Parts: sequence; C-alpha cells; structure tokens
Amino acid sequence: MEQYSDEKNIKAPKNLQELVDELKKVFAEDKVNIEYVKTLMELYESNPLDWKKFAKFDQYRYTRNLVDEGNGKFNLMILCWNESQGSCIHSHSDSHCFLKVLNGQVQEEIFDWPDESSDTELEMNMLKQMVFEKNQVTYINDTIGLHRMENPSHCAKAVTLHLYSPPFIMCNTFDQKTGHKTKIPMTFWSKYGEKLPSNEENCSQTGVCCIPQPENN
Ligand code: SIN
Repeated sequence: MEQYSDEKNIKAPKNLQELVDELKKVFAEDKVNIEYVKTLMELYESNPLDWKKFAKFDQYRYTRNLVDEGNGKFNLMILCWNESQGSCIHSHSDSHCFLKVLNGQVQEEIFDWPDESSDTELEMNMLKQMVFEKNQVTYINDTIGLHRMENPSHCAKAVTLHLYSPPFIMCNTFDQKTGHKTKIPMTFWSKYGEKLPSNEENCSQTGVCCIPQPENN
C-alpha cells in the first residue's frame, strides 16, 4: 500500500512498543518494502528501558528471546550475546531477516551457498565481513547468501533485535570447512520476558550456536 512504500517520510517510533505497532501495520499489507522496514527499524533509537525485560544472557550460548509474534506475520526477538558468543553459518528458510543493534556491536560474515552438486568437500567462500554499531540495521535473505553473526568484543556484551518474516522454526547450519549442512530447530530461551523451562528441546539448542551438546548419560 502507498502508505508503507516511501521510506523518506517515516516518523521515528518513540519506543519499542511503537515500533512493534508500526511493524504490525506494515506487515499486514501483502507486499513489504524492505527499505521501508529497514528505515523504520533504524529510526527507533535504542533505549534499554524498553527492552531490558527481554535481555536475558546465558553463560554458554547466545539467547533468543521472543518479543512479539507480529499477528502471525513475523517474529520479533531480542538476541543476547555475551562476550565473543556467536552463531554458526546458517540459512533463513526463505524468510526476510532484519537485524538492528540495540547495544554493543555485532559482526556479520556473509558466505556463498556451498555447491551441493559437488562431491568434494570445499571450504566455504566468505563474501564479506561487516561490523554493525548501535542503532544500525542490516538485512539478509537466502538469495543474498548465508551468514554467521557474532559479538566480536572480548569485554562487552551485545544485544540485537531481529525480525523474521514469515516466522520459521527450522534452518540449516553449515560447516565452514566442508560445506556440510545440518537441519536444526530454532527455539527460544524466553518468551515475552519469561524464561522457558529448560526441557530437553530447549537445552539442546536455543540458537544456531554450534556448541558441543551435553552427553546423554
Ligand atoms: C541471525 O540470523 O541473525 C541470528 C541467528 C538466530 O536467529 O538465532
């Protein structure tokens, strides 16, 4: 719709709730303008008072914390990265992925898809590496490539806001050395500010973090 196509006249959302309300209106339309969503997310000025109840860190892996289900059109979540925590290389199940830095900085490495027709194991090809600072927004989908995110700092935490549309619960992770892929579930550490019980599903994999799984004994 006209109203959500021109990113030049967007009013800055005053807080996270206003951003969520605006995003719901934008995603209610059939077609979504990627630049419009990026600009809207950029214009929200990160304020920890808005998001601290969702910001839950884990000693061993980054956490995924659901903020809103976007009327079924998107999942909005806050990811918390302790010093040096990162994800594996992963795909986005044909969804749009918008990422805004709320605190600290994050590094994104973008990779080509591995050649699945080849029998040889090949190191994956990195296309670029970028660092994003507080309030910056980046965007990726599967046609752009695969990516790995990490907090590059050894002494500061990072917090990021992610929007995935349509929402997805499975993705593929990739081994950088061989290009081998593994399908994994994507679960949440908390929903709406409440920690989820650490049942088997949740403790085995809360994100695409490639850390060794606890042994079953
Ligand atoms: C990302 O794709 O940007 C982070 C990974 C995740 O959603 O767990």
